[in-house]
Amino acid sequence: MVWAVGGKPVLRVCWWLGCPVECGWQGLRWLADVRLEGGETVTAQDGAVAERAAAGGRPIRVMIVGTGQLSQAMQALAPTDVVDLTVLGRAELDLADAAEVAAYGGFAAADVVVCTAAFTQVDVAEDAAQREQVWAVNASAPGLIAQACAEAGTALVHVSTDYVFGSRPLPEELAAPVGVDSPPPSPQDPQVRQVVDGLAFASADPVDPEAVYGISKAAGEQQVLAADPWHVVVRTAWLLSGEMLPGVRDFASTMCRLARSGVSPKVVADQWGSPTVVTDLAVALWQLVGRVALVRACGLPDLMDAPVCAPDAGRGMPVADCSQAEHKPRIVAALAAMPPQRLARLACLVAPGMGDREAAQVGDQWVRTQCFDELAEQLAATGGVLHAAGSEPATWFHVAAELFAALPGHAATVVPCTTAEYPTAAPRPAFSVLDSGKLTQLGITPPGGYRGQVSHLVGVAPRPLG
Ligand SMILES: NC(=O)c1ccc[n+]([C@@H]2O[C@H](COP(=O)([O-])OP(=O)(O)OC[C@H]3O[C@@H](n4cnc5c(N)ncnc54)[C@H](OP(=O)(O)O)[C@@H]3O)[C@@H](O)[C@H]2O)c1
Repeated sequence: MVWAVGGKPVLRVCWWLGCPVECGWQGLRWLADVRLEGGETVTAQDGAVAERAAAGGRPIRVMIVGTGQLSQAMQALAPTDVVDLTVLGRAELDLADAAEVAAYGGFAAADVVVCTAAFTQVDVAEDAAQREQVWAVNASAPGLIAQACAEAGTALVHVSTDYVFGSRPLPEELAAPVGVDSPPPSPQDPQVRQVVDGLAFASADPVDPEAVYGISKAAGEQQVLAADPWHVVVRTAWLLSGEMLPGVRDFASTMCRLARSGVSPKVVADQWGSPTVVTDLAVALWQLVGRVALVRACGLPDLMDAPVCAPDAGRGMPVADCSQAEHKPRIVAALAAMPPQRLARLACLVAPGMGDREAAQVGDQWVRTQCFDELAEQLAATGGVLHAAGSEPATWFHVAAELFAALPGHAATVVPCTTAEYPTAAPRPAFSVLDSGKLTQLGITPPGGYRGQVSHLVGVAPRPLG
């Protein structure tokens, strides 16, 4: 494989399907470097984002719904040379108004919609007076958006939360009493880490939300995937932006403020999760947008709907059933019926009956075939649920302690406390660490650890995003 810095279209390799042979797809955009202000490159080789060729030579039209923390990071890191970006805020569309959402026709103009909007005030969401609004924004609106996208052939990436996992108690190894003189077990202890990793939630694990916020988000996930199994739900957790997004108030910016004011806060030390630096998530989402756009442009969903395909492959997604030899002529016929432009953009085709890496001639075009299992795996990872959360699990206490340690010139310290000492209206998951391994299968860079980025989060090594 050849990697090209600067986005020069040099490849003749089907990167998404992992096809190791030339497949005639030229002009792939491998590296649209994601750059921060000041010229620093966030990701050297993993910033592959959108695929100009995938949309027929024009930029990918992406619509981000929501203007909050994640949206701002995505906007700041948008590869604007290959993406035509629209941002839809509350002023343009009130997601609490179902009639307004249902009547909105703008999703059809996008290739990919990324829904970051949500009712995120988890404690306010417990207020009975707010429940209708919470449900409308977090459950009904995503369903309506997903339907509109499905009807228009637009892909949807919908962002969800670790709060869909609410009720798992802390394992014995992590449940030692915490207090002023008893900090929680260190996540850097290999044994602790082994326990945490062993319990981390995979994206296929059943949800069990407890808080109204989590229940409503879980319902939103269901509605999104029911509308179109090719839509993608991306669960993330514990977003941190700190001084990188000065207008945003998150946990990191609150800790910075307290430290600078000389306040020593009590911070809960018996909730374990996956702190995620928002820029890492933004980069992963842009990569995902590129993959999703590519899948759509390949025509694979259409091909899967062709008569050669079985309607179901375990999780309701149509997947080609090409295991029998008689399917070969039908596949060839389906390809022959495709408009030439679509065919030219069709990089690879699943057809084990045609033989691994066998080339089939359709008209004057040669189309490479690909191993069924490999593509089935890729397809299964493309639609459905993905986890995209930081790689260093921790408690809030650990995160706060790292932030305080990185901020010079203060005498304040972080004091561990229990959830019981810090009661909130919404129950918090005691353990909601997410396993983001499936992202790697898709060739997408999972968010990294937060500890290496605390200097950016506290502004000691400034990295403003806009
Ligand atoms: N923050 C985290 O730690 C975290 C953790 C896990 C998952 N997530 C998920 O990640 C996504 C992004 O989170 P975030 O931190 O970026 O959230 P955020 O900063 O709270 O932004 C939420 C956005 O949703 C918009 N919104 C809320 N109600 C709306 C309505 N009725 N109509 C239109 N827009 C509405 C807000 O608009 P206004 O600005 O006008 O209110 C805001 O732009 C969400 O889906 C969230 O569930 C976040």
